[in-house]
Amino acid sequence: MTASPKTFHVKSFGCQMNVYDGERISELMAAQGMTATGEAGDADLIVLNTCHIRERATEKVYSDIGRLRKHARKQGRGPMIAIAGCVAQAQGDEIARRAGVDVVVGPQAYHHLPALVARAARGGLGIDMDMPGLAKFAALPARRKVGPTAFLTVQEGCDKFCTYCVVPYTRGAEISRPWTTLVDEAKALVDAGAREITLLGQNVNAWRQGDRDLGALIRELDHIPGLARIRYTTSHPNDMTQGLIDAHAHVEKLMPFLHLPVQSGNDRVLKAMNRSHSRDSYLRILDRVRAARPDIALSGDFIVGFPQETEAEFADTLSLIDAVGYAQAYSFKYSPRPGTPAADMAGQMPAEVMDDRLQRLQASLNRDQAAFNAATVGRTCRVLIERKGKLPGQLIGKSPWLQSVHLTSEAKIGALVQVDLIRADPNSMAGAVGMSAAA
Ligand code: SAH
Ligand code: SF4
Ligand code: F3S
Repeated sequence: MTASPKTFHVKSFGCQMNVYDGERISELMAAQGMTATGEAGDADLIVLNTCHIRERATEKVYSDIGRLRKHARKQGRGPMIAIAGCVAQAQGDEIARRAGVDVVVGPQAYHHLPALVARAARGGLGIDMDMPGLAKFAALPARRKVGPTAFLTVQEGCDKFCTYCVVPYTRGAEISRPWTTLVDEAKALVDAGAREITLLGQNVNAWRQGDRDLGALIRELDHIPGLARIRYTTSHPNDMTQGLIDAHAHVEKLMPFLHLPVQSGNDRVLKAMNRSHSRDSYLRILDRVRAARPDIALSGDFIVGFPQETEAEFADTLSLIDAVGYAQAYSFKYSPRPGTPAADMAGQMPAEVMDDRLQRLQASLNRDQAAFNAATVGRTCRVLIERKGKLPGQLIGKSPWLQSVHLTSEAKIGALVQVDLIRADPNSMAGAVGMSAAA
């Protein structure tokens, strides 16, 4: 059917790990001599790098495929369609059967894409849902060119089996990439233009090598010349080692930001979720983190409407939010995922109850985010310039606390600029370039 594709487009959905995978897939296809297109509709090969975490992910993939096909038909073309990512891992066989796609490839097998694409070009189905662990990393081309902020996957998979979550099934067991490959890739990223590296993992702080934890890895990366900032995400409360907490006190490059999902503030719900931390143990961890780094900005994830969640239990989540004062957070309505234990639990909540709780939860989170931003007005900090804004001369970058900062300056993309935070706007901070512009 399809001839060998010459152009490609990768569209990634879901978490930052998928974004990282999407970048590596792009690098891999480029290394095959293919050219990336700006629009999916113009490409000979379209890679949908999918996410399975919430609602109707599979349906979305089907409708995306339908839309892309229709668009291509209008232009008299028939692009090759590859489904990658977590939906591919969870439902690959069915997608191949129902949607007639050309390639299906799981998150641990995408280094085989060139061979799978070649098979599809010969008229076959290229399908690979193997989970060979870390094999892909060794098989991928070296990093060449990246922006000022780059992702680095250090750990994959999850052994936690929260009862609502598909990740342990789509990404497999927890595995840590070896120390030396990570240090080498971090150096390559800096050589390729990165000033900030965000270490990624489904449970990034579960990274271990022997007795070395993520804190030790961060202290090692601290020595890379030219690297200005280190971040990491997403962490699990149970893997918050003292070594990692201490790194927040001692490593200047480690930014004062921690994304530590809690999901609920009620112990019965946490237990039913199999979170293996309690409200209290979570709060005590945050106390230790704040002791190490008093200005740390905290972020979290929340699920409302877990099966059987009562109004009083939900109120515990609101009171936890009040107690913490998050700088920002993500919140979701519980979504039953096929194959997870919670999907079969009694007491699934009506949509209206979830909508109402989500609204109230987000009102609290928005209030705290506004308060956090307002409290930073008057601070001076370094902003890493990431891109141009819409207005002439306007630049957009990030503060140490991961706020978007808008400012006017001649600085280049990738510069670290000394900025006074002068105003908190609804979704960003306004900054003014201070007296001294740092390197
Ligand atoms: N490993 C991380 C995050 C994984 S997924 C952690 O454990 O925190 C990102 C977020 O999606 C989760 O923190 C959770 O809040 C949300 N999520 C996962 N499964 C969900 C589901 N079935 N319904 C609603 N939200 C879900
Ligand atoms: Fe999912 Fe829980 Fe693992 Fe996070 S820790 S990825 S929520 S199972
Ligand atoms: Fe989605 Fe898979 Fe990430 S389900 S959130 S893309 S790990």
